[in-house]
Amino acid sequence: MSGFLIKTFGCQFNQLYSATIADALTRGGHRPSESLGEASLVIINTCAVREKAEEKAFSFLGEAAKLVGASHIVFMGCTATLDKERAVRIAGRGLNVVEGTADVEHVLAVVGTVVPLGELDCTAPHSLFPTADIELVRGCESYCTYCIVPRARGPEVVVDVGEVLHRAERAVGSGFSELLFLGQNINRYRSSLGGLVEVMCSVDELDGNFWFWFLSSHPANFTPDEVKRLMELRHIEHRLHLPLQSGSDRILERMNRRHTVADYGRLAEPIRENADWTLTTDIIVGFPGETDDDFAHTVDAVRGFRFDGVFLAKYSDRPGTPSSRMQDKVPPAIIDERHSFLLNIVQDLSEQSNQVLAGRFLDVLVLSAHAGGNAFGRSIDGRNVWFLCSEPVPGIGTFVSVAIDHSSREGLYGTRVF
Ligand code: SAH
Ligand code: SF4
Ligand code: F3S
Repeated sequence: MSGFLIKTFGCQFNQLYSATIADALTRGGHRPSESLGEASLVIINTCAVREKAEEKAFSFLGEAAKLVGASHIVFMGCTATLDKERAVRIAGRGLNVVEGTADVEHVLAVVGTVVPLGELDCTAPHSLFPTADIELVRGCESYCTYCIVPRARGPEVVVDVGEVLHRAERAVGSGFSELLFLGQNINRYRSSLGGLVEVMCSVDELDGNFWFWFLSSHPANFTPDEVKRLMELRHIEHRLHLPLQSGSDRILERMNRRHTVADYGRLAEPIRENADWTLTTDIIVGFPGETDDDFAHTVDAVRGFRFDGVFLAKYSDRPGTPSSRMQDKVPPAIIDERHSFLLNIVQDLSEQSNQVLAGRFLDVLVLSAHAGGNAFGRSIDGRNVWFLCSEPVPGIGTFVSVAIDHSSREGLYGTRVF
């Protein structure tokens, strides 16, 4: 049987679709290959959110086309949907392009025309074990002015609440220890049961030993009361990822984020008042029209909210987005300067955030463990934890308690305790 190689760029949705395809291929008798040279099927799952990710995908496509030939390549995801022509120019006419990203069943149908697949199984893909990714909302209609996702991924489609709860129950029942619910703006979820909070309350009532969390929240569609209600749930992880994007109200307005920094502050407050919770965010530097003063506000906000982690991105012009038509672009040299200035601050904040945990005991989900006694996992508040453990080595997906003895900006280090 032939070997397959899947190269994935971009967000958790792409990770989920790639893992689902990998599972279906494995069930069809195919096996994963380590290198392009050995693969007879190459799947490239692309992201268009920034130019860099697109360029990487196209260059990988060029390499793959030379080694395995266009007819053995499936080019899918957001770039495949937006710029099929360039992909065909690079790889040649025989390339299999999956246009559209609406649902994984459609993607599987196309991959299935290239090689036979196994039965579709609606349990979470096993290659992501111990985390079960579950879609709540596909697509996006929030139209942030810099963002290509609404064009690439299309209008919002809400997954039926019965299906969501069924998937969650099956995942927990079949041994998954973490559920991750997904939506580009998950706060826009609506169902017969209610919105995000109501569905999360129902998930919380499932029997079993599991944690759950969700991505991504949008401050404009979230209320402080909802944040507080979520924080009371028994199985929820103690972390919130709440993208701020900019600390300047003027820039937030130009981004069409539909909230102010003060609104954000009201949502962050319950999290910041509880030392057991972490708050992470996304920031874009160098959005068109960003002045030194706007940037200073972002720096103040990042310091003020004491983010435990920040995903910093340099603004990237995406063809067809409203911001790409704005005239007052920030020169690349200034973007670089602001980015490295803020990166230093962000790294210091992560270091400080981890430092205070030395001497504490944390609940950790085990993600890998080796016979020698070195293990790795994630704490309930989302930190990387490297720890030593004596025999018996804990299984992947089990929960352990770790005594933390030191930290770095990357994470925590300690020893398992019983
Ligand atoms: N739906 C999620 C994720 C969107 S993409 C959300 O709204 O949070 C992930 C991150 O990429 C965004 O939060 C933003 O910070 C960044 N991003 C999106 N478009 C970008 C662009 N054109 N240039 C730079 N960063 C961008
Ligand atoms: Fe893009 Fe905004 Fe939608 Fe996130 S919420 S995917 S940033 S348009
Ligand atoms: Fe990228 Fe598409 Fe996800 S643009 S971030 S892969 S929705």
